[in-house]
Amino acid sequence: MKIRSLRHSEPPPRNLLLLADPSIEFIEDYLNRGETYIAELNGAVVGVYILLATRPGTCEIVNIAVSEKYQGEGIGRKLLQHAIELAIQGGNRTLEIGTGNSSIGQLALYQKCGFRITGVDRDFFVRHYKEDIHENGVHCRDMIRLSMDL
Ligand code: ACO
Ligand code: ACO
Repeated sequence: MKIRSLRHSEPPPRNLLLLADPSIEFIEDYLNRGETYIAELNGAVVGVYILLATRPGTCEIVNIAVSEKYQGEGIGRKLLQHAIELAIQGGNRTLEIGTGNSSIGQLALYQKCGFRITGVDRDFFVRHYKEDIHENGVHCRDMIRLSMDL
């Protein structure tokens, strides 16, 4: 598997990005402002993440997704490790990520990779998303904020 920067001439894998975020408006904004990286396996795009510089010395993984067929095989962890290395190389001191209160597996993965919970953006998903989101039988309302000192 190879992870590389998406070229400006290439179409972003919106179908994958939508797995992580149902808002196409947010996705287009992140694609415009951030750097997109893709994971390729046998010529097919199987994973993606977007890294966004948010403040001086701080960047955030604002979207990360792996094709459903390949989930649970370690690709997400490799994408996170790639993002961590890039953020360090870019001279950043802090890497952030956020996910829904209902995203139990994602919260486990991010903490296994070294992120620590720093806060809760209460009702983020209620304020910003038209449709209710449910996952693992839990109503997704709040964004759990995590960060890593680099
Ligand atoms: N309890 C404990 N651990 C869990 C659980 C759980 N319920 N679910 C998953 N995990 C762990 C696994 O054990 C594994 O850990 P390990 O590496 O120690 O074995 C890890 O989480 C999963 O690792 P990967 O196989 O590397 O992850 P995957 O390739 O499936 O990618 C991802 C993870 C990106 C979240 C993928 O499942 C996906 O695309 N999901 C749908 C989109 C999504 O939710 N994206 C994130 C939204 S938040 C955001 O974009 C910032
Ligand atoms: N992802 C999604 N849902 C999950 C997961 C998961 N990884 N793990 C459990 N659940 C859900 C189940 O689906 C079930 O939901 P449902 O009722 O909608 O089907 C629910 O959690 C479990 O419900 P019960 O079967 O009623 O729970 P149980 O009788 O197992 O009691 C308890 C829960 C008390 C936490 C028990 O497992 C236990 O004693 N664990 C060890 C001690 C412990 O951790 N106690 C809590 C510490 S915090 C405190 O004490 C304040």
